[in-house]
Amino acid sequence: MVFTMYLNKEEERMYQGEYGTTVAKSMEILVALGDIYEASSLVDITSAQVSGVSYKTIGEAGLEYLEDLSKEGIDLVNIPSTLNPAGIDLDNWQYFGFPKEFSKKQKRIVEAYGKLGVSETCTCTPYLIGNVPRLGDHVSWSESSAVAYLNSVIGGKSNREGGPAALASAICGKTAMYGYHENENRIATAIFDLDVEISGLDYGTLGYVVGSVVGDGVPYFKLKNRSGSTELKSLGAALASSGAVALYHIENETPEYEFAKSVSDFKTLEKVEITKETILTTKENLSTTDKEADLVCLGCPHASLEEIKEFAMFVKGKTVKNQLWICTSINIKASADRMGYTKTIKSSGGHVILDTCMVVAPIEEMGYKNIGVNSAKAANYIPSICGLNVVYDNFENLIKFQ
Ligand code: F3S
Repeated sequence: MVFTMYLNKEEERMYQGEYGTTVAKSMEILVALGDIYEASSLVDITSAQVSGVSYKTIGEAGLEYLEDLSKEGIDLVNIPSTLNPAGIDLDNWQYFGFPKEFSKKQKRIVEAYGKLGVSETCTCTPYLIGNVPRLGDHVSWSESSAVAYLNSVIGGKSNREGGPAALASAICGKTAMYGYHENENRIATAIFDLDVEISGLDYGTLGYVVGSVVGDGVPYFKLKNRSGSTELKSLGAALASSGAVALYHIENETPEYEFAKSVSDFKTLEKVEITKETILTTKENLSTTDKEADLVCLGCPHASLEEIKEFAMFVKGKTVKNQLWICTSINIKASADRMGYTKTIKSSGGHVILDTCMVVAPIEEMGYKNIGVNSAKAANYIPSICGLNVVYDNFENLIKFQ
């Protein structure tokens, strides 16, 4: 058999079925992708992050595909691999009132992934729970906000994979060598200069503005102040939602900014000035209603322990009027439990919710109308994916007390 892309002897055997049909099917996906994007070869990966988990997004066809695959593919995945958020809190779906039929199907999807050997940890911030590649590692991740964080802040290398491709990579331990795996595609394509210091919500808003300008390019930021990791996860999530950004650089902050500068024809790049006024106007425009939120949903991307602490301190000793969900992973929730933050939030009437989020959960079937978020990515998606109104603001303004 002749391949367009180079395969070594072992890869040829995988492709031809010597390791079973699940491996062969997965190799077929990787080789097809490699051929489309003119990859020269496959490359070994150290980690995978697989999207296509919520029943809301993959439906019956996705469930069947995964159950078929998992029948013959028991424990095939043997690199660190985690799942993207599911459509329910897998442990407490009844308590939160998630629809029964939806929940049953959702559990079957996650179980099928588990049989294949993917960790049943459902989160879009895998880098907060131990799925942490090293600088220069090739990986196959599919959640767009996580890919932006990985390429930009960690310095790992991944394309924005689709769910089936990331799963195929997890099974084979390989991905096709093209796109962001090649250094030549990691150089800056436009410079964004800020005229003021920014903080908190501004990062997501800035990401939304720049993503819509730069498309699938690589923005290079000159900021007036240093950023925290929570702010960088918001920035990347927004860049990846209004545009298709998978990598950004920040001068003096992110690991590859010097490389991005030295290799690109930096001086000739387009320069865009972003003003405080642009950020303020964009923030106003992201809300679709001025009504009070009936559900405030924080944790997009999934909240870190530090964020949960901040929310807990804010609501401590008070009674929250809106429904309040703080979305995170099972691992971070376990730490929040031990630190007493979950209890503090629960005493105020709020909840720390596992495995899911405001976009991939079927919140439109649960009677909510106006959703309050402090994430530009969620503000961008809730009207189109859930068909609901959104209020985009700082959490201090969204949460109302009795
Ligand atoms: Fe994560 Fe859901 Fe936001 S998957 S990035 S919390 S839309």
